[in-house]
Amino acid sequence: MPLACFLEVVSLGVVYLFDIYRKVPKDLTQPTYTGAIISVCCCLFILFLFLSELTGFIATEIVNELYVDDPDKDSGGKIEVNLNISLPSLHCELVGLDIQDEMGRHEVGHIDNSMKIPLNNGDGCRFEGHFSINKVPGNFHVSTHSATAQPQNPDMTHIIHKLSFGDKLQVQNIHGAFNALEGADKLSSNPLASHDYILKIVPTVYEDMSGKQRYSYQYTVANKEYVAYSHTGRIIPAIWFRYDLSPITVKYTERRQPLYRFITSRSNSCPLLGFLWYEKLSSFSVPR
Ligand SMILES: *[C@@H]1O[C@H](CO)[C@@H](O)[C@H](O)[C@H]1NC(C)=O
Repeated sequence: MPLACFLEVVSLGVVYLFDIYRKVPKDLTQPTYTGAIISVCCCLFILFLFLSELTGFIATEIVNELYVDDPDKDSGGKIEVNLNISLPSLHCELVGLDIQDEMGRHEVGHIDNSMKIPLNNGDGCRFEGHFSINKVPGNFHVSTHSATAQPQNPDMTHIIHKLSFGDKLQVQNIHGAFNALEGADKLSSNPLASHDYILKIVPTVYEDMSGKQRYSYQYTVANKEYVAYSHTGRIIPAIWFRYDLSPITVKYTERRQPLYRFITSRSNSCPLLGFLWYEKLSSFSVPR
């Protein structure tokens, strides 16, 4: 019944009453100068809105979130460490790396994957090491502890080129602290002083557009410098890196807006509305 009614209405031409965009026959319209200017301006404005919306759509955004978990469970509870440090006034044969942690690890003179490169004609040394630490509080330190004979006055002045943990993340949009100690310069410190770098390591996950995850770590540092004594005399100085892990993980996710959002976004429907109005305006062209 409603269908029959509808058909009747259509056949009577009543449906034409609902047209709000009535057309004036082409031969009754005349283009005007103002009309042309308005038209061109409208077109340019639409183009501008469309392009700015499009660039926003194409650009990826990075969303970050925090959660309490160990993201990199396959690592076997280990973190890779990259250390690159120069001691310009300490012989390479005296320099060594020791690793200690709360799991009872105590390794003196770690040498796997590490290199000692003489500097200043052999007076100094650059230590480049790649090793792993357990995910429990602990420390690693550069000192003369592993040398066969302890020097009288070891000079612990140093400069740190790199200290980083986990995978290298090369992402421009993140201003993180992946290598916070880069460039730390203690060349003018008291040569006999010990240095403590207290690190808080924050697990960081980066998920790119394809869903691939990379695991890295950022850290914050507090630093102190002191000459230590015990009742038997001065304690052999060292450069300590004492670390602890944050239970909170930061996750960055690379994202692009879905296409339907682009099409239906509010600012994008403006050009559309604009275009409809432009159509309407153009039909205002004065009839002769
Ligand atoms: C360590 O740092 C020095 C000085 O910046 C640099 O020349 C050297 O290539 C670095 N080593 C590694 C393994 O990155």
